[in-house]
Amino acid sequence: MADLNELSSKLIAIKDEITSQLKDIASSKAVYEYRKTLMDAKNGQIGSLMKEMGKIPNELKAEYGKKVNEIKNWAQAQFDAVDARLKEAEMKKRYESESIDVTLPAVKPAKGNLHPNTQVRNQIVDIFGSMGFQIFEGTEIETDYYNFTALNIPQDHPARDMQDTFYLSPQFLLRTQTSAGQIHVMETQKPPIKIISPGKVFRSDDDATHSPMFTQMEGLVVDKGISLCDLQGMLDVFVEKIFGEGVHTRLRPSYFPFTEPSVEVDVSCFQCHGKGCPLCKHTGWIEVLGAGVVNKKVLEGCGIDSNVYSGIAFGIGIDRIAMLKYGINNIKLLFESDLRVLGQIDD
Ligand code: DAH
Repeated sequence: MADLNELSSKLIAIKDEITSQLKDIASSKAVYEYRKTLMDAKNGQIGSLMKEMGKIPNELKAEYGKKVNEIKNWAQAQFDAVDARLKEAEMKKRYESESIDVTLPAVKPAKGNLHPNTQVRNQIVDIFGSMGFQIFEGTEIETDYYNFTALNIPQDHPARDMQDTFYLSPQFLLRTQTSAGQIHVMETQKPPIKIISPGKVFRSDDDATHSPMFTQMEGLVVDKGISLCDLQGMLDVFVEKIFGEGVHTRLRPSYFPFTEPSVEVDVSCFQCHGKGCPLCKHTGWIEVLGAGVVNKKVLEGCGIDSNVYSGIAFGIGIDRIAMLKYGINNIKLLFESDLRVLGQIDD
């Protein structure tokens, strides 16, 4: 810089430019960027002036420094003022856009829950799991042999009529009962056996309390000296845990080809506690499952010595338990996937 006159005119030009730029500047971010550019030691209009100080002859240095400092302070003040004004406007805008009306009703977050059948199945599995039962996963497609014949229901046995079957071929079918799993377990495991087997079963049956697809859970215990007393003891624990304290079972004689003797198991009504109400049809008792002592023929057919071992078996309708527990009067409600219904049931 040859003389200070040249500097003075340069400073005037810089001032004019800053003034005009700041007049139209739109955001505090732009102010920041512009300030950074100006003050940049290498290329910035003000920054570079300061850097040039070294090249100024000694006698001019003081005057040069004073002028550059002046414009620097002046520019800072301009930037600060514009920056403060823009920041205030920006904050105001942000507060306005982010403001919330605390008087508005709260938005209820959508909450998912497990299907009632899954809830009941999990509860039942937990209860029997705590008694030492293991889970056996059967298959939905079975052979006629496992679903019927091995369970002492030979061809032409009238019991086959009790379970209208979906046949896939003369040999294969959709299992009508989880009891089929008993045979697989007894064929492959040696006593002591203690399993439950939950899963879907299928029957050509369709009304308010029957669905072509429904869910059951089989239970099987085989060991030395197992009797109906063990069955009732376990089921008493089960019904009390699932339906509530004080609920207990009653066994009634029945018939299933794969158990001898066979029983229907009723529970004391958990709604009226025996006084009589619509749920128990004023009898004080509700039928919940079929069970019995495993037929010796079935044990022997699976290669288990019936002179040494005995077994008990039971079949629980999971949907039936869910319907009773949650007061659902039509089994279809469990399978229609209507969230208004399913969302109400959460244990
Ligand atoms: N499988 C029978 C049904 O679907 C239920 C049943 C009854 C299972 C007695 C059993 C049993 O294990 O012992 O109707």
